[in-house]
Formats: sequence, structure tokens, C-alpha cells
Amino acid sequence: MIPWIGFFMDIGIDLGTANIMITMGSKGIVFYEPSVVAFNKRTEDIIAVGMDAYKMIGKTPEYITVIKPLSNGVISDYDMAESLIKECLHRVSSKLLLMPRIVICVPSLATEVECRAVINAAKDTGAHKIFLIEEPVAALLGAGVDISQARGRMVVDIGGGTTDIAVMSMNGIVNKTSLKLGGNRLDLDIIKYVLNKHRIQIGERTAENAKIALAQVGEPNGQKSFTVKGKNLLTGLPDGVELTDFDMYKAVIEDIKILTEAARNILESTPPELSGDIYEDGIVLTGGGALIGGLDKFMTKELGVRTYAAEDPIRCVARGTGEAFKYIDVLRSGFEKVSIYD
Ligand SMILES: Nc1ncnc2c1ncn2[C@@H]1O[C@H](COP(=O)(O)OP(=O)(O)OP(=O)(O)O)[C@@H](O)[C@H]1O
Ligand SMILES: [Mg+2]
Repeated sequence: MIPWIGFFMDIGIDLGTANIMITMGSKGIVFYEPSVVAFNKRTEDIIAVGMDAYKMIGKTPEYITVIKPLSNGVISDYDMAESLIKECLHRVSSKLLLMPRIVICVPSLATEVECRAVINAAKDTGAHKIFLIEEPVAALLGAGVDISQARGRMVVDIGGGTTDIAVMSMNGIVNKTSLKLGGNRLDLDIIKYVLNKHRIQIGERTAENAKIALAQVGEPNGQKSFTVKGKNLLTGLPDGVELTDFDMYKAVIEDIKILTEAARNILESTPPELSGDIYEDGIVLTGGGALIGGLDKFMTKELGVRTYAAEDPIRCVARGTGEAFKYIDVLRSGFEKVSIYD
């Protein structure tokens, strides 16, 4: 708990499909938990948010529902998203926050309606000013890349629901795309793979744990293994199977190729001077997906451009939302001040 409040407190929110992270002023990231809410349908009460709610996924009685208020990077359940933000802010500050300035991120190709949902969710926290920042801009800032120079900088931010790819120069976005494909899709790939190969149905959390333990798209050698447990569809009884990094490669590689092709398309449509800069400086990977084993090597080989993971990639966007306050007057695109009283 942070007992400190400020009239113009600066709060950065990375409202991600998988995780919500909050930065406060110079303190940096003060909150990092799964974007999950547990709701009691009988009493209409929120009973848990974040990690406590995440632990309930797939294990609740009928009257409790566990909701992920974001899917594919955008709000799919407005009321729950608002409760999630409010509850998380309440958890990090023991006192009422007075009129904070909030920077909150959205995927690059979020529609007006999707942005409005994010603004409304943040507005009801009592914000004084709200700024929206596109995820790849925050990702580059959080990765410590200098985006102010007349130099092409490229990022691939692989989150739970979306992958945002952008090239920036002189504080503005030059070229960008956003795919509704991220770590969650890889989890589904793993579920499908285990079902087809072993006739065992596993849950989302199990698939994610297997991915984190084994995901390898560099040079899998079958040496690492992880046992997943679920339900045998032929017998209807509990069952388990040992997966190797080679299984994981086969499960996820097709979607990894789709991400890599999207990065190739962005490179191909980037003006030559900026392309030359990217060839020299490389492509930075951020988001949880940057932690997939060997992804940097795989993309480097496929694209012929050095690709590397940022330091602590999963926190880059959140760090960037905090950093953005320093650049409020200079960021040219991918960043806007939102009128909240219209
Ligand atoms: N070590 C790891 N290896 C592979 N994937 C990982 C690892 N650690 C986390 N992930 C995955 O990263 C994803 C979460 O990343 P991140 O927090 O960047 O997403 P998000 O910002 O919440 O989502 P989005 O930006 O799409 O809204 C999850 O799918 C998670 O399973
Ligand atoms: Mg993200």
C-alpha cells in the first residue's frame, strides 16, 4: 500500500488482455497482476480481481463467474473493465486519488468505439486528464529506445491478445499494423495440439504453463519436458501426458510464422532510409511473447534483420505509459490528449 497522494498524480495504466500494470509518478510499476475479475452472480459483488481471480479460472461453482474484461487487446466487458481499473487503483493507493492525470494504452488499430470504452473506464476513476497512447509507442519508450531522432526504430510487441508492430521516427509513427494474435492464441494452439494428438482436453491455464515452461521456436531438441494434466476424452477420466519442447514447436510454429510475416510486410512497406536504420539497429521485441524461447533467433533468420528482446520485455509497455508523461508535448502521433468532459 502506498499512503501517498498527489493532486496531479501521474498514473500510467497498461490495460492488457493478459495483465494490468499500473505506474505511479516516479515510483515506476506499483501493480502487476492478471486482468481478471471474479463476480458473484447471486449477490452481484466483485469477489476478487487480479491474481486471486486468476487462480479461480475453471474452478468456480455455478454462481461465480471469472471474467477477462479484455479480449484481443480491447474491452469486451465495459462494467468489469471499469471495476478492474478501480479495484486495482484502490489496491495501490490507500487514499482516494484526487484528479490524477492518466496515460492508458490501446492497440494501434483500436477503433473509436474501442478507445471510447477505455476512456470511459478510466474517466470514472476521477481522472483530471486522460491521454491515450498506442501500445507500440509505449513499448519503444519502455524499452529505452530514443524515438526522437530522425532514425527508423521498429518494435514488435507480442501481448496476450494482440501483436502491435510499428516503425517510428522523430516521435511519430511512420508505419504500423496490429494483429489479433498473441500469447492467448498460442495457448489455444497447444490445447488443440494435445487434443488431436493425445485425445486429452487441457485447460487454458495448463496450456499457458506448458507454453511458459517449454515454448521454443529456435532449435527444439526434445530434451525439455512438462507434464500436462486434463481429461481423457475417450474414457472421460483424468489423464496426463508429457510434452516436449519439440511438441511445443509443432503446436505454435504456424502462428509464429504469421507474426513474422506481418513484421516482413511492415519492413517491405517502410521507406528505404528508415529501412536502412532498422537494418543497422535491429528490431526490438517486447510483451510477454518476446519471452518465447528462440523467437529472437527465428525472426532474425527469417527477416535477415537482427531481432532482440528488450530488457524485461513484459513490463515495457507499462514502463512506457509512465515515461510518456515526459514526452507529452513532443509526441506527434500514437498519442493524444482526450477530452473527457464532452
Ligand atoms: N516466458 C514466457 N514464454 C512465453 N510466453 C509468455 C511468457 N511469459 C508470459 N508469456 C505470455 O505473454 C502474454 C502476456 O503478455 P503481456 O503482458 O505483454 O500481454 P498484455 O499486454 O496483457 O496483452 P495485450 O497487449 O495483447 O492486450 C501471455 O499470453 C503469457 O502467456
Ligand atoms: Mg500489451
